[in-house]
Amino acid sequence: MAKITASVYTSHVPAIGAAIDLGKTQEPYWQPLFAGYDFSKEWEKAQKPDVVFLVFNDHATAFSLDMIPTFAIGTAAEYQPADEGWGPRPVPAVHGHPALAAHIAQSVIQDDFDLTIVNKMDVDHGLTVPLSLMFGQPPQSDYRWPCKVIPFAVNVVQYPVPSGNRCFQLGKAIRKAIESFDEDLNVQIWGTGGMSHQLQGPRAGLINKEWDNRFLDRLIAEPAELAKVPHIEYVREAGSEGIELVMWLIARGAMADVAGGPAPKVVYRFFHVPASNTAVGHLILENQPA
Ligand code: DHB
Ligand code: FE
Repeated sequence: MAKITASVYTSHVPAIGAAIDLGKTQEPYWQPLFAGYDFSKEWEKAQKPDVVFLVFNDHATAFSLDMIPTFAIGTAAEYQPADEGWGPRPVPAVHGHPALAAHIAQSVIQDDFDLTIVNKMDVDHGLTVPLSLMFGQPPQSDYRWPCKVIPFAVNVVQYPVPSGNRCFQLGKAIRKAIESFDEDLNVQIWGTGGMSHQLQGPRAGLINKEWDNRFLDRLIAEPAELAKVPHIEYVREAGSEGIELVMWLIARGAMADVAGGPAPKVVYRFFHVPASNTAVGHLILENQPA
């Protein structure tokens, strides 16, 4: 059967993608940020996931105000990097897993979560920057991402956005779905976006290190309690774009301990301020044998 072996949490920032694509990762501003992902890249090489279930948000790139799905699962075989105004990022196309994605859609919808099925979608920095951070740039000699990816887009851009608790409960349903897929697959689930940042208005530039670090503590130790935090607290404490953090609760809700299993092992934790306008947080949790 398919198994969720680990969850990964990381911020995304378009400027991180630009720093990679323009060869600036060793510049003094960027070096400490990228050094924070050296461990993660080595860890991924050892883990060799077959599939990443990647929870992310689209930034009015594939979806516009014309159509705003709350939760959208990608069931396509392939996704192209989106043009966000400067041309598409020079990274490989993303290969999906249509059979597993269709199985998850079937199971999760039958479990009373309404998902939008997406058969065609370009993927923006919300998805490609986490892939770059965790896998590095694929070599020209083998120009592809090292695993399949199921994109799962969450609306955190236009109100009303889903609550932390809704996301946490959805994570449980996704776990049940993945672990009932009849193929031996090493699956990771990633929660991306965040941490504190605000890109607009009088509070633009807001960063709240203390709140972010408490969020990381609670995500590890008491996710069900953390899931009760209302939107207004994210916006007040972590800025208007800090609401992206609710997506991390989907990945956390899919971990074994939430379904009565052992607590996950904290394999890695990293926090860095700032990258562009954002506080960058990163966590790796591994499921432990029952
Ligand atoms: C920035 C962060 C984001 O999450 C985003 O989607 C766009 C920009 C920033 O920090 O600049
Ligand atoms: Fe964002």
